[in-house]
Amino acid sequence: MVNLPKDLLGLRELSPEQIQHILETAAVCKDIFSRDIKKVPTLRGKTVVTLFFEPSTRTRTSFEIAAKWMSADAVNLTVASSSVAKGESFVDTARTLEAMGVDLIVIRHSLAGTPKLLAESIDAHVINAGDGAHEHPTQALLDLFTIQQKKGKIAGLKVTIVGDILHSRVAKSNIYGLTKLGATVTVVGPPPLIPQGVLNLGVKVETNLDKALADADVVNILRIQLERQTKAYFPTLKEYAKLFGVNRLRLEQAKSDLLVMHPGPANLGVEISEEVSVHDRSAITEQVTNGVAVRMALLYLLTGGGNKDAVLY
Ligand code: CP
Repeated sequence: MVNLPKDLLGLRELSPEQIQHILETAAVCKDIFSRDIKKVPTLRGKTVVTLFFEPSTRTRTSFEIAAKWMSADAVNLTVASSSVAKGESFVDTARTLEAMGVDLIVIRHSLAGTPKLLAESIDAHVINAGDGAHEHPTQALLDLFTIQQKKGKIAGLKVTIVGDILHSRVAKSNIYGLTKLGATVTVVGPPPLIPQGVLNLGVKVETNLDKALADADVVNILRIQLERQTKAYFPTLKEYAKLFGVNRLRLEQAKSDLLVMHPGPANLGVEISEEVSVHDRSAITEQVTNGVAVRMALLYLLTGGGNKDAVLY
C-alpha cells in the first residue's frame, strides 16, 4: 500500500512510487468520464474549499468539477469579497474555514511557501494549486498523466521544456516529476530566463530551441509570464517568438510523433502559434480533461483513499 502525505505541497517531496500511485488512481477516475452518470458517491460528506489569491480558469474550475463528481461539497471563497479584504490573514481565514468543518483547502498564492505555512497551521488537508515561482504540483501530475496516456510510458523519453524557466512553477514541478519517473529533461530559453542552479536538478540546458527539439519526444511550452517579470529579459515578444516560439516550421523539423503540450493559458503567436496549438500532435485540450481526473484522484487519495477500506467507484 502506497501512502501519501497529509498535504500535496510539491512533487519534490513525493517518491516515484507515490507519483505512480496518483497516476494509476487518475486512470481509474478517467474511466468515470465515459459513464452517462459521471457522479460517484465516494466523497459524500466531505467539503472542499478553493482559496485562490491569483487568477485561474483551469485549476480552480477543475478542482470544483472533480469535487462535485466525487459528491463532495465544493465551495469557492472569493478572496476579493472575503474578510481577507478587511486585513484578515490567510491563515486566520483558513482556520475559520476549518472551524466550519472543511476537510481540504486548495490554495493558490503569489508567495512561494504559502501552502506549506497553511498546511502547518491547520489539520485539514492542503493542496498547492501554485505558489509563486515555486511549484504547481497538480499541473505537473496532469502533464505526467497525459504523457503516460499518449506515449504509454515516461521512463526513457526525452522531454524539452521551453520558455520562462526562471519564473515557472510548472517547469519546476515537471522537472521533479519527470526526472523521478526516468525521463531525460532539457530546458531551453533565453539565458536570463534559465535560473542558475537548474543543472543541480538533473536537467540539460540548451539555448537553441531547434537543437533542443531535434530528438525530443515531448515539448512542454511555457507561458511567458509577463506578470512575474520585473525587468526586460528579452528585447521584444516578436524576437522571442522567432527564437523560442514553437511554430509549424519547427514542428515539421521535429520527430513526426512529437507530443506538444502547454499548461495554458497560452500567449498565441508568442510561445506557440495558433496552428500548433490546435495541431493533431497537440495534447492541450486533453491536458485540461486529464486535469479533472488527476484532481479527482488527489481529492480521493488525500481525504480517504489512504484508508485500506476506501473504495473508488
Ligand atoms: N495551467 C494553469 O494553472 O491554468 P490556470 O491559471 O487557468 O489555472
